[in-house]
Amino acid sequence: MLIIRNKKWMERNVLRNEGELVGMIKGCTRTCGLLGNPVEHTLSPMIHNTLAESTERELVYVPFCVPQGGIEAAVRGAEALNILGLNVTVPYKSAVIPFLHDIDPFAERIGAVNTLVRDIDGFKGYNTDLPGLYRAMCDDHVDIEGEHVLILGAGGVARAVAMLMVEKGAKEIILMNRTLQKAERVAREVNEFSGTKTARGISITSIGELSDKQSYLAIQATSVGMYPNIDEVIIEDDTFYDKVHVGYDLIFNPSSTRFMEKVQEKGGRAYNGLKMLLYQGILAYELWTGEEVSAQNINKVYKRLLEVQKNETKDAI
Ligand code: ATR
Repeated sequence: MLIIRNKKWMERNVLRNEGELVGMIKGCTRTCGLLGNPVEHTLSPMIHNTLAESTERELVYVPFCVPQGGIEAAVRGAEALNILGLNVTVPYKSAVIPFLHDIDPFAERIGAVNTLVRDIDGFKGYNTDLPGLYRAMCDDHVDIEGEHVLILGAGGVARAVAMLMVEKGAKEIILMNRTLQKAERVAREVNEFSGTKTARGISITSIGELSDKQSYLAIQATSVGMYPNIDEVIIEDDTFYDKVHVGYDLIFNPSSTRFMEKVQEKGGRAYNGLKMLLYQGILAYELWTGEEVSAQNINKVYKRLLEVQKNETKDAI
């Protein structure tokens, strides 16, 4: 008896949900989406469809897996289909730039876009990853102005973070990287861009070169420690963490990385990259719709992200 009742309830519920889905997509519904490869584990549809639902907008967001060499065709196709807006992820954040008719100056300086906004002539590129990180840091009361900042890594992400730090008034930026030459090159680029001598590069093993008198804001900008390699940490040496008062790991899966744990063990505050993910999405949505997302709706998305983070063990982009 119980089984039959459950089955009926399930059928009703499935039908109701199917009906909701059919009703959701109308003739006036606009499409946004993600260009990347792979895209299977992305959390962006969850972010943007939650926002569309909460703001009662006729908008759906879908992932598009773009085959290698296909980014120009994808952009042209999206133009032809009058797609409202797109996110761009690995491996196309730089490769997409030649196919845009305009680019925001900050995104151009970083050399990477993650958001495309439709206008009359085509798509304009923006970068909301870095402003997203900035908003996350503000939210977490992490100051940048006047700070002594350590950036762990010297890849594209680390370079962009260094640009943000110099723009927001960091006093000193030290890029620590496995390959010293890369850290030195990025530091040079940051100094050229800012017209200062704020940045320098050192080897990731040169912990002794850090000042004993200084306590640093350390930003972990590599993929070391990301699921499934959760036992890895970019710097093992405990003495390093004595010098860190705030640790920001751009990884959000797992929610607490070994880097974060080591910072906390030494009394520092530690944060993961989930809020950066949240705010890059909020900012993209605001660019597409021209409307500010309310604190209540931001909170709703964040709660859903936390739920997914709790339940998922897959690496998401
Ligand atoms: P992204 O564009 O996402 O930043 P990337 O350009 O491949 O990616 O950069 C990855 C960064 O992580 C680099 O700084 C890399 O160090 P190297 O320049 O020496 O390659 C760093 N990295 C990756 N795996 C690492 C590891 N196991 N130990 C230390 N650093 C690592």
